[in-house]
Amino acid sequence: MRTKLVAGNWKMHGSLTANETLLSALKAGLAAGVGCESAVCVPFPFLTQVQALLQGSPIGWGAQDVSEHAKGAYTGEVSASMLREFGCGYVLVGHSERRAMHGEDSRLVARKMRAAQAASLVPILCVGETLAQREGGVTEDVVTEQIGAVIEELGVGSLACAVIAYEPVWAIGTGKTASPEQAQTVHATIRGFVAGRDQALAEQLRIVYGGSVKAGNAAELFAMPDIDGGLVGGASLDANEFLGICAAAGQ
Ligand code: 13P
Repeated sequence: MRTKLVAGNWKMHGSLTANETLLSALKAGLAAGVGCESAVCVPFPFLTQVQALLQGSPIGWGAQDVSEHAKGAYTGEVSASMLREFGCGYVLVGHSERRAMHGEDSRLVARKMRAAQAASLVPILCVGETLAQREGGVTEDVVTEQIGAVIEELGVGSLACAVIAYEPVWAIGTGKTASPEQAQTVHATIRGFVAGRDQALAEQLRIVYGGSVKAGNAAELFAMPDIDGGLVGGASLDANEFLGICAAAGQ
């Protein structure tokens, strides 16, 4: 039985005031527990605030990126052990915005994942195809290359303490959600790919969906057998939306 995970990705949004309002509402809404795990992945400067506000609550938190290096002369980078000091449980690696805009390839993403796990963070490994790749019929090749690079670099066992987020690039921030069937097909492909290396691990592995998830479409996505929750961008900035998505995951 896989417990669903709903993780917010705030991206480059938030302010001290807005965060306080949002997190107070989330804490109140999730205090009684809703039968799923929840977390927010926030910009680095807000980690102190988020730690102070969420400590002792059922809501976890994390960052949106991490350095592949443990320490050293890497101006602007943030290490996994620093994130641990701020109580992070999770960190996103390989988000499509970083792959596309910051030139991150699957090997670098694998090394970031290694760095995260060395500091006991749970990486949320983001994979997904662009619209051109989907239309070109190579969705499966793209996601298996992205996951395959991690398996080659770190071994399949690295996925035992990780979450995979399938985020079709064409569904991110566009309002175009993959249909539950479209998403399920790719999630099943991913699970099958991992099962080819380790069946038991694949059955435990949480594969969450991201791309225009909202309170209004979450339940039908989460009803699919291989969709184990969501990675939520825009809707994670709205307390009612995020709580609605968590409620759908807890059903
Ligand atoms: P949206 O939910 O805004 O489409 O963003 C998805 C995403 O990129 C989460 O990582």
